[in-house]
Amino acid sequence: MLGDRVSSISDLTSDGLKVYSATGSVDQFAPKCLDLFAGAGGLAVGFREAGWAIVGGNDMSKDASATFRLNFPEAVFFEGSVAALTAELVLQKCGLAEGELDCLIGGPPCQSFSYNNHHRSDSDDRARLFEHYLRIVRGLKPKTLVMENVPGILTIGGGSVITAIRTALAEMDYETTLDVLSAEEFGTPQVRRRVFIVASRIGEPESLLPLPTHRPADSRKLKRKKMKGLKKTVTVLDAIGDLPPLENGKGAQVADRAGITAFSGFQRNARRGIRKLYNHVCHGLTSVNLDRIVHVPEGGNWRDIPRDLLPAGMQRAKLTDHTKRYGRLARCGFASTLLTKCDPHWGAYIHPTQDRTISVREAARLQGFPDKFRFAGESLGAQYEQVGNAVPVPLAIAIGNAVLAHLIQHASANSACGESSNKDSRDSSEPAQRKKAA
Ligand SMILES: C[S@@+](CC[C@H](N)C(=O)[O-])C[C@H]1O[C@@H](n2cnc3c(N)ncnc32)[C@H](O)[C@@H]1O
Repeated sequence: MLGDRVSSISDLTSDGLKVYSATGSVDQFAPKCLDLFAGAGGLAVGFREAGWAIVGGNDMSKDASATFRLNFPEAVFFEGSVAALTAELVLQKCGLAEGELDCLIGGPPCQSFSYNNHHRSDSDDRARLFEHYLRIVRGLKPKTLVMENVPGILTIGGGSVITAIRTALAEMDYETTLDVLSAEEFGTPQVRRRVFIVASRIGEPESLLPLPTHRPADSRKLKRKKMKGLKKTVTVLDAIGDLPPLENGKGAQVADRAGITAFSGFQRNARRGIRKLYNHVCHGLTSVNLDRIVHVPEGGNWRDIPRDLLPAGMQRAKLTDHTKRYGRLARCGFASTLLTKCDPHWGAYIHPTQDRTISVREAARLQGFPDKFRFAGESLGAQYEQVGNAVPVPLAIAIGNAVLAHLIQHASANSACGESSNKDSRDSSEPAQRKKAA
């Protein structure tokens, strides 16, 4: 659909993995990173913005592959299941030696992975994504790695998944730490909490996790002293207020910008380097849903809809249930976590002042994607899905910066002392960026 710069397939492995070679070049002096389970590439955009060279990516989704290749022509792309990917193939196609990769990013989706899941079988590929991830780590030996996941990963199997990952990484000589980071504390206009498991084989991993730069969603929780130095949070209006109005179900994949000037720093940043407006299209609501949402004010939700207009299943719901369903965003508030569908039945995806769902571009802004990042995919649903799946870009930039600082700090220590003295070269007086996670 938008594939003007997309690379063409250069190889098809016997396992059905499509290898697309790079059509652009990377800065040879920049640290190198590879993205597994890349999706559209939210994590990778953040790393690139932080100064990293994205040398490769992998995802099994054709739509995600099309988007990634459109936006990262400099990277080799491996389209297909990670189960078919080998470290040898990555090293060969990306022109890397074992141990040369500076960071492996991307987290295996964990929805289906639970040791408590009685339907889990050894032949279920989805249940084995972590094992494949660790297999690739074993073969590539990256200096550092960053895995993103949903907070639920901390509790599935009574914590056994996390323990299994940390144990496997320790056996490969990595030290690991983890934390739950909140996107709004890094300048994203969205409340979204994600777990980051980070590991290093060149130094203490604590400095791989960034400290918040913005106030939390509920700043009443913070004492005045702690607020010092933190920036004001970014609101929905700051993020999408300059995008032209749309009618329900309308918009265009490519359009000229209507004459609205940017009026926030966030908007000016988002618009940098691109004149056209891509993906400003919204999913059409049925007339039944339109009749419902006209009753919902800014910041309101399903409780504002007359009972007899609600879907049958919700008419019996308690007022305390499903608080975000049929929600309308508030201009001065945050978006709640974007999911893979901007369906009002799932959450708060109604535009603050127009009777329609947010467009793909508005969703992308709420995830911190710059406007020059374009979403491909065979359907509008596929584009929303890629946006909803992504790591918010401002959070990814903060992590990219932290890992880069760690690399610079420890690369110079290692080059002074020799690689073999990695662990001895760690200076215990180095300021740790955050407390060691439990
Ligand atoms: C949460 S999304 C990743 C989002 C990405 N980190 C970003 O920031 O945009 C997880 C991705 O894993 C991919 N995936 C799921 N199973 C896979 C498999 N077996 N092999 C490769 N990719 C897979 C999905 O297609 C999806 O795009």
